[in-house]
Amino acid sequence: MTVYGTRPEAIKVAPVIKALEASDDFESVTVVTGQHREMLDQVNELFGIVPDHDLNIMSHGQTLAQIFARVIEGLDPILEKEEPAAVIVQGDTSTSTAAALAAFYRQIPVIHLEAGLRSGDISSPFPEEANRRITTQIAALHLAPTEVSRANLLAEGVDDSTIVVTGNTVIDALLMTASKEVHFDDPALEALAASGRRILLLTTHRRENWGAAMLGVGRALAQIALEFPDVEIVLPLHRNPLVREALLPALNNIANVTTIEPLNYGQFTRLMSLSYLIVTDSGGIQEEAPSLGKPVLVLRDSTERPEGVAAGTTRLIGTCQEDVEHQIRQLLSSQELYDRMAGSTNPYGNGDAAQSSLHALRSNTDRRSANPGNMQTTTFGTTRK
Ligand code: UD1
Ligand code: UDP
Repeated sequence: MTVYGTRPEAIKVAPVIKALEASDDFESVTVVTGQHREMLDQVNELFGIVPDHDLNIMSHGQTLAQIFARVIEGLDPILEKEEPAAVIVQGDTSTSTAAALAAFYRQIPVIHLEAGLRSGDISSPFPEEANRRITTQIAALHLAPTEVSRANLLAEGVDDSTIVVTGNTVIDALLMTASKEVHFDDPALEALAASGRRILLLTTHRRENWGAAMLGVGRALAQIALEFPDVEIVLPLHRNPLVREALLPALNNIANVTTIEPLNYGQFTRLMSLSYLIVTDSGGIQEEAPSLGKPVLVLRDSTERPEGVAAGTTRLIGTCQEDVEHQIRQLLSSQELYDRMAGSTNPYGNGDAAQSSLHALRSNTDRRSANPGNMQTTTFGTTRK
């Protein structure tokens, strides 16, 4: 059973669900919590995934506690009914950790996809760093995207035999999507694509950036728009009203700023490919951009994705208005710096992470799980109640 609820989880579990569906030896059950609504549905639609269960929990202004409680309460009877051999959760969202806990309470083995990411700062990203650490404590199998994430798990005492390095399934999703010809629904984006102008793609949504930080980012980008009239800033807005309230006052009504609704993943992938530079606080985009050879300026002070920084493609710039302006200005003005960042390689995988994950699931089918939290021993392929 795969349980997910937000856009990034949906993108990253899609290749795994597709692989499970295509296999002869697994029966796939999908549960969406609906922590996100439109942004989640967009992804399922694109990948042709029709969830078996939908908890439909989203409300505007939802608190972390509300999401957590609704997921646990909604998922429990489904776990009872479906009796899955194992539950797959992805990453670090509230859906992910709540679903892991609900499964753990029923002594169903938890498979953690994208395990072992650590920023080292419990308050950033908030609450995701805590979520992923909690999930690590109760997971039976840790599917780590890179050797760095594996090392993080080992440093915390996780048993090596329960960790498999698979690559990140986001690269599978990206390659599945980027190989298709895609047209923008929005004629303005088609015109921009044809114009050959430099595109600065901006996305921001992180909880710790809500409020003053995001206001500053908006002002910084408005200043850049003024200084570089040849550059078009494109901003697919997160659905969260708080994000819109913070960004739009500074960026509305500027000739070379285009604000749009979230794009479906196919169109967003094309927009990333067309972009000159990406400025973001997104986790997934930090992983995708290196594959596309796009420099990324990250609106955060720390990252759980240091591989991109080490490879030279991503750079942490924080959210201070002056710093954001300075770093963007530098990259838009220096061809040498730009070429150095754009020329780096992708450290996050080569597109076979979903198959590696299935392989790891198979190899663990008859193996006793070594749970650090050590409940009673569980065996994959058997549901214990
Ligand atoms: C969540 C995740 C975050 C992930 C992000 C991806 C947690 C704690 N946070 O944050 O890790 O990076 O998703 O985008 O799990 N909304 C809609 N429609 C949608 C989606 C969101 O209207 O399709 C609005 C709702 O008003 C909702 C609000 O956005 O209440 C916030 O959504 P929420 O899932 O709580 O937080 P995100 O910031 O999206
Ligand atoms: N994305 C998308 N449409 C958009 C913006 C982003 O499909 O308009 C994709 C992006 O390519 C990446 C994922 O959404 O795969 C990232 O989601 P988000 O930034 O919301 O969450 P995070 O990765 O930070 O958890």
